[in-house]
Amino acid sequence: MVTPEDIRTALRGVNDPELGGNIVELGMVPSVEIDANGVVDIDLALTIAECPMRNQIESDTTRRIESMPGVTAVNVHISAMTRAQRAELMEKARFKAREKAQPTQVPPTTRVIAVASGKGGVGKSSISVNLALALRRKGFVVGLLDADIWGFSIPRMLGVEGPLTANDATRLIQPAVGHGVSAVSTGLIIESEETALMWRGLMLSKALEQFLTQVEWGELDYLVIDLPPGTGDVQMALARLLPQAEMLVVTTPQKAAQKVAVRVADMARRSHMPIVGVVENMAGFVCSHGEHHDLFGSGGGDELAETINAPLLGRIPLDAAVVSGGDEGAPVVITDPAGPAGSAFLSLADGVIDVLPPVEDETCTGRIAKLIAQLDDGMPADLEAGASHG
Ligand SMILES: Nc1ncnc2c1ncn2[C@@H]1O[C@H](COP(=O)(O)OP(=O)(O)O)[C@@H](O)[C@H]1O
Ligand SMILES: [Mg+2]
Repeated sequence: MVTPEDIRTALRGVNDPELGGNIVELGMVPSVEIDANGVVDIDLALTIAECPMRNQIESDTTRRIESMPGVTAVNVHISAMTRAQRAELMEKARFKAREKAQPTQVPPTTRVIAVASGKGGVGKSSISVNLALALRRKGFVVGLLDADIWGFSIPRMLGVEGPLTANDATRLIQPAVGHGVSAVSTGLIIESEETALMWRGLMLSKALEQFLTQVEWGELDYLVIDLPPGTGDVQMALARLLPQAEMLVVTTPQKAAQKVAVRVADMARRSHMPIVGVVENMAGFVCSHGEHHDLFGSGGGDELAETINAPLLGRIPLDAAVVSGGDEGAPVVITDPAGPAGSAFLSLADGVIDVLPPVEDETCTGRIAKLIAQLDDGMPADLEAGASHG
């Protein structure tokens, strides 16, 4: 049975973007209750009831909780904070900013999509690269993290080469840029002796953490992460390091593939990572006459989506251009956006944007935070010090 503590843990994945913290630590969730039928009631205290962020925080909250095992319904009750509560919240936000508590270089306003599958060879990397490029084509600022530490393929697919360099001033690693998308991968590091020095002594299994904490990602709208196959440490580490991460599960039309995919989805749920949706890859073949043929059966994506209660966001057909694009560093979304696979990737991106719209950053809380920051600037130093948390 799910407990209020489980719910609060899951809600740590919901950020108030401009306050730079999650709604639990900012004290915006005064109460969580669950009844015997699995109906969850969550009180959400926003800075202002008519906050423009309201819909986003509300829908992120609902989506995070409704898929948890044992939960049958979610009711979110919004209230506005009192002046005193608001002052306390701002104090917390300021304290966090001073502490630089943000554990990674990925901004809290970034939507994080981790592409996962139970096994290799189903097209996870092809989907990661083409989804990142499709989101870029739609005008967003996009990063691509190759978390397949041992089986990396992003550099080849995106057409980027190492070595990555570090910024002298910030000492942070600069991502490589391919077709407008910022990318990091162990393939961009271990091939060069020079940068291998920077990484010496670091266990490669720590690479994901390094990629999140020591790379200068900048203000990303979306970060796409190509996970290694299976249900291992990297997935668990990701859920811990980036609580806003959501999983996109890849499957093929075959029955066996769905069973494996269900295991991945179970793992995601256990680590409180919501599933943004399902993609069916190699879903039939469009021949040169434009006719659709199902080579591996059909309906696998639909079935998986129903089993794990997540939307089917895309079906990518078999298309030789996916293979050649990946081999030549010019993915199909760039070379043939109107072709069968190219257009399917673009509509997958639409599906993702629909479920996970980019975070708006000019918000009511943001404006309040800025106002308070301006007031602070005018405050005598001793007063400011006296007001801070110890
Ligand atoms: N829709 C597709 N049509 C044709 N070939 C594909 C498609 N998706 C993936 N492939 C090919 O299948 C192989 C495995 O894909 P890849 O993305 O590397 O899978 P994974 O990362 O899951 O191991 C690659 O050669 C890739 O080019
Ligand atoms: Mg791969």
